[in-house]
Order: sequence, then structure tokens, then C-alpha cells
Amino acid sequence: MAIAEDNEILTRVGPGTPMGDLMREYWVPAAMSSELAADGPPLRLKLLGEKLIAFRDTAGRIGVMDHRCPHRCASLFFGRNEENGIRCVYHGWKFDVDGKCLEQPNVPPHQAFADKVAAKAYKTAERNGLIYVYMGKRETAPPLPFVEATLVPEDQVEMEFVQRECSWLQGVEGELDTSHVGFLHFGMVKPDAFKNTGFERPVVVNRAPEYVAKETPYGAVYAAHRPNDESTTYWRFGHLLMPFWTMPPINGMEDNVLTRAYVPLDDEHTMIIEISRKGAYDRLREREPIPGATQLNTYLPQTSDWLGRFRLAANITNDFLIDREVQRTQSYTGIQGVQLQDQAMQESMGQIVDRSHEHLAPSDMMVGRARRLLLRAARAHAETGAMPGDAADPSCQQGARGGFFVAAKGLDWMQAYASQLSGERQAAE
Ligand code: FES
Ligand SMILES: [Fe+2]
Repeated sequence: MAIAEDNEILTRVGPGTPMGDLMREYWVPAAMSSELAADGPPLRLKLLGEKLIAFRDTAGRIGVMDHRCPHRCASLFFGRNEENGIRCVYHGWKFDVDGKCLEQPNVPPHQAFADKVAAKAYKTAERNGLIYVYMGKRETAPPLPFVEATLVPEDQVEMEFVQRECSWLQGVEGELDTSHVGFLHFGMVKPDAFKNTGFERPVVVNRAPEYVAKETPYGAVYAAHRPNDESTTYWRFGHLLMPFWTMPPINGMEDNVLTRAYVPLDDEHTMIIEISRKGAYDRLREREPIPGATQLNTYLPQTSDWLGRFRLAANITNDFLIDREVQRTQSYTGIQGVQLQDQAMQESMGQIVDRSHEHLAPSDMMVGRARRLLLRAARAHAETGAMPGDAADPSCQQGARGGFFVAAKGLDWMQAYASQLSGERQAAE
């Protein structure tokens, strides 16, 4: 049960907040490369509570900056993206992707002071179809993340953005609690439904797994375990990689080159960025269709609003299109789609859940561990400027992968993980 002060620290992400400042020590994935065309219209981008604009200049470079023109604060969203810079349409000042003021055409040349003003621009990077922003204070930004799926080349990667209208932490916590799969997603599913593939069967044979968890150099790892048969154990492994990357056990570990980042747009809106290697879901799709589980994300039209990107048509204003008859007869929720089911539960808690009402269970072991880890890191950073090691050098993220598998009974959990992972990697080579 988190006290109110802890909850504030965990969920407030604006500039000057402990968690917001901690997150600013990391690269933040912000947009798809395809969202910005060279010399195309600027994009309103909300990130960690800041109103920004993003644009791609003539040379293909990405600019991400405070949307307010440093002259008299007109929004650069209305600007002209011209010949390697964005021009404010109020008085014509022009800025390059680094925020440098290139021209002040309404000022007589002998009075110009372009070298003394700049737009507040952030460092940006682009890799494998994803645009990242570094909003921290360090002169030299850290290396980009080493999260496995983010390293997959662009032609082999699949990416999906979905906006969730609640705190980033509610999203992250949903990935750290695998016991909900046996209810929210598979609550009415009988073991026989899995006879063709078997590898999710234990989730509905035993819906009350036990958990283990521990901290790692990049965050924390956990596993849920239950017997598979007399001689083997069924494991589901997941990770939290600081500050908001998760690796949930969605597929067998051999296929699960996958991550979901829960990027705060502000305190109450989150962009879920799922990145996976093409084919990650193929084997999962071989099973018989499970009522309610098929993902059919239908998006509302994109708008230019700060929060207008990647919103789902089924949402809290229409009760996620719950069908009570389907709920009675076919699926546990009557809500169509695994992600939408998660969306419904997490948004139903309120945009920032009041955690003083909770009663955590053993299945929330990793949730508690993640909160303690995040609180400790945010407080240390606020008090002394200390950064988690991975904020300086994220290479420790290498090697982490979530997923499920079966291993010999009695094996130590991290041994089972290591041998499964090295077996998968050898088989892949
Ligand atoms: S407000 Fe932008 S140029 Fe004047
Ligand atoms: Fe879920």
C-alpha cells in the first residue's frame, strides 16, 4: 500500500518532479519515423508533461523543441517548416533543429540578436524506425537503449503505438502481474482449448502461480511458476528495464523478442510503444482462436491535438464496447482484444489510481518491488543527483528477454532462465 506521498513521486512526471527528472536521464521513445516527413508539417508532441513540437528538416534531421517561440511565445506548431528550419509565422524568426535562431527578419540587421536567443530544443536520435528524445541536462546524451527489440533492424521490426488514458505506472504494473492473464484474458478458457500448442495451457490449469523477483543492474526481473507436470515447471518471466520499458511474457521465450515502453505523455496519459521482431506472435496465433483474445485495435482518426495520436475507438467513454451477452456466454470480459481488456482495467482505476485503497497480494510481488526500486531511484536522484547505473551505460540491458517456457522441476529460477535463453540463442545461430 503506497502512501500518498509515494504515489505522488511515482506518478508525477513533469519538469522538476523526482520521477520526471529521473526519466529525463534516459532516452525517451517519442514517435515513429514515419510520422515526420522532411519539410512536412510539425507534429504536436506531449512528452513528460511538456508541450513540444517535432519536425523533420530538409536534410532529414529531427527537431524536437518547446512549442513556444522564444520571441513572444506563439506556438511553433503553426510554423513554416522551410529549408532546414522552422519559421514562426508571427514575426518570422527561424530556428534550426538544435534551436539555434537563424533569422530575425523583423529586426533591423544592426539591432539583431539572433545569437542571444534560442528555442529550447532537445537532443534527438532515430534508430530502426523510432524517434527518441533526450530531455535531460547532460551535455552528452547517454547511449541509446540496448533493449533487445529496439535493436532489431527496421525491416524486421513491428511497431504499434496505443495511447492509454491513465498514468504510465498503471500500464507498467499491468505487465508485472502475470496472474491476471488467467482471469482477464483467459477467464472462461478451458485447458482443452490449448491442446494444439500446449504452451499456455498451464495458465488455465493452475490460475494461482507463485512468484519470485529480484533487482538487476537494469531494473528487476520476475517469474511466475507453477507445475507443468510431475517432472517439469512452467515459467513465465518478465522484466522492468528502467525507467518504463517492460518485457512481458506474451510468447514463448524463443519468439518473444518484444518490449513495451510506457511513455508518459503527461501524468494521466501514456503512449504504449510495442516493438517486436516480426513473427514474434506467429506461433501464438497457431492456437485455436480464443473468444475475446483476438486483437482488433481500431483507432480514432489522428488529430493534431497534444493527445490526438493513436487513440482507440473502443474507450472509456463507450465502456470499451463491452458486450454483456458475450461476457455471459463466451469471454470473461465481453471486451474484444487482450490489449483493450488491459486498457479497460487500468483506465477504470482512475487516471491516477489512489493506491491507499489497495490490498496487495503475493501475486503483486513484482509490482511492489518495482515501486520500491523506482521510488528509491527517484529520491536518490532528487536528493543527490545520483543516477542509476543504466542511465549512464544502458549496455547492461543486453541479454534480458521475457517469455514463457517449461524446464525441469527443481531448477533454480535464474538457472532455468539462463539455460533457456542460451539454448534459444544457440538454436538461433
Ligand atoms: S512570436 Fe515567434 S517570431 Fe514573434
Ligand atoms: Fe494483460
